[in-house]
Amino acid sequence: MIEYTKIGFLIAFLLSTMTQSSGGANILGVFGTHSPSHVIVHMAVMKALADRGHNITVVTQMKPKLATHENITVIIAPPTEERQRYIKEYMAEVSNEKPSFWETMVKAIVQSSNQLEGQYEFMTHPNVKEIYENPKIKFDLVFLGLMANTYQLGIAAKLKCPVIISWVGIPLPFMDTIVGNVNDPSYVPTVNVALNAGQKTMDFGLRFVNFFKYAIMCVFETVLDYKMNQFYERAFANELEFPNYHEMKRRVSLLFYNYHSASEGPIRPTVPQSIEIGGIQVKEQADPLPKELAKFLDKADEGAIFFSLGTNVNTNTFRPDTVDILYKVLSKLPQRVIWKWEDLKNKPGNASNIFFGNWLPQDDILAHPNTKLFITHAGKGGVAEAQYHGVPMVALPIFGDQQGNAEIMTKSGFGRWLDILTMTEHELEQTIREVLGNPAYRETIGKFSTLYRDRPLTARQSVIYWTEYVLRHQGALHLQSPLIHTKFVARNNLDVYGVVLLVSLLLIVTIKFLFRKILNVAIGYGSQRKAVANKLKNN
Ligand SMILES: *[C@@H]1O[C@H](CO)[C@@H](O)[C@H](O)[C@H]1NC(C)=O
Ligand SMILES: *[C@@H]1O[C@H](CO)[C@@H](O)[C@H](O)[C@H]1NC(C)=O
Ligand SMILES: *[C@@H]1O[C@H](CO)[C@@H](O)[C@H](O)[C@H]1NC(C)=O
Repeated sequence: MIEYTKIGFLIAFLLSTMTQSSGGANILGVFGTHSPSHVIVHMAVMKALADRGHNITVVTQMKPKLATHENITVIIAPPTEERQRYIKEYMAEVSNEKPSFWETMVKAIVQSSNQLEGQYEFMTHPNVKEIYENPKIKFDLVFLGLMANTYQLGIAAKLKCPVIISWVGIPLPFMDTIVGNVNDPSYVPTVNVALNAGQKTMDFGLRFVNFFKYAIMCVFETVLDYKMNQFYERAFANELEFPNYHEMKRRVSLLFYNYHSASEGPIRPTVPQSIEIGGIQVKEQADPLPKELAKFLDKADEGAIFFSLGTNVNTNTFRPDTVDILYKVLSKLPQRVIWKWEDLKNKPGNASNIFFGNWLPQDDILAHPNTKLFITHAGKGGVAEAQYHGVPMVALPIFGDQQGNAEIMTKSGFGRWLDILTMTEHELEQTIREVLGNPAYRETIGKFSTLYRDRPLTARQSVIYWTEYVLRHQGALHLQSPLIHTKFVARNNLDVYGVVLLVSLLLIVTIKFLFRKILNVAIGYGSQRKAVANKLKNN
């Protein structure tokens, strides 16, 4: 009986979130990143809201890879040619070396001025500036895709509306601090720190490494925050009655992040302003594949392999010997292979089992029942899609967080990873055959997939529910953790500890003093009695 009541409530709730509309709000998405994979996640959030009937305006640096939608207006503010050249060079450079966490950090700092200036140029591009300087429509809400551009929160202040942050993965420390998530390095793994499957806590060695990586991130955050404040003042110097940078950070309504802790783990302490939308970019329902591709996949009786190194890296920029190894191995497998390759005029070969394409619907390919393996660079998005569809992986990480993602994926038992720069033909072939042949990988990722999909609200429903929640209440500041309004001394309870220490010291001194007094009295009394006794004896 109780079960039925519960289910009844759930259905009523779901129906209400699906049918009750707050009458199509005007929503602005500001996504100035130069990473196409970030734009994919942000656009998935926007699409959920557009399908719902909201009027979406998006500003980005590049045309999003999303079919045109009647409720989404995309405004492009392209980077300058110089900046474009830099982005291209940077991507080509990082794809041919294997930076460690430390190198990535150092690079991020050294090249940050270029990235930061790029974001600033984006925000002050006439196409973007027009929107917040001379708004033609009244916006009800702003989404900001976060990546070293926190000062762009000022756009929401200009438009006098609430703001939601959108992030593509597990929150980094500087996002945690915006909403007040506890990021304790003794049990919360930071970027690129992975636990083994079934391992519940970090041992001493791992905690040691985790602490140092965390500390570096904190230093990085402090420097970045200082820079963000400078940009904020540069951008909004002439504004009157405008919140300062730190006040503006406290006006964030929610943080949407692309992560599902119950299945991806470990559980991290988060506040009600942190909303998990893990897998938002994964389509809940696959679309039909392009005809040619559908035919190729349907006829893959031995199963099919999907090989893609993502949108940031172009397989053409790889060293020829790497491509050679990949082609030799993939062309001799009995499975059919779908290979994402940019330059279709210059293919690595003409093997009949390989289908080359430069635009491939990754999601729909992974959803196909014949797809048995995904060879990936282990970008967060691709890994999530494979996890959603239960497809085992061979990861060839290239840069950034991919190494960490690949290690976590391997430790979780979803597949294996290889170093793309040093792997041999034999190693690649062995690894592919192992992951295809051993059923353990498919079973493990299948179990994960079941857990991943089991939630009270799907990722899209969460986006809709919480966005409309912010619209209904004109913000969600009542969900804020007190932490973000608390200063350093109070946050660490230093004043309370100080008083406790002082009182304890006073108490100890007093007790000592009293004890000595009592002792003295007692000794004095004792010696008096002795003296009296002696006196009596002498008499
Ligand atoms: C666009 O929004 C309208 C309501 O404003 C809605 O009726 C329509 O279904 C939406 N379009 C799509 C493609 O979802
Ligand atoms: C929807 O947004 C577009 C682009 O920003 C705007 O031109 C249009 O007037 C808006 N529609 C409504 C009904 O507000
Ligand atoms: C593949 O076939 C095309 C056309 O038949 C030919 O021009 C090309 O050289 C072939 N490529 C390779 C690598 O064999």
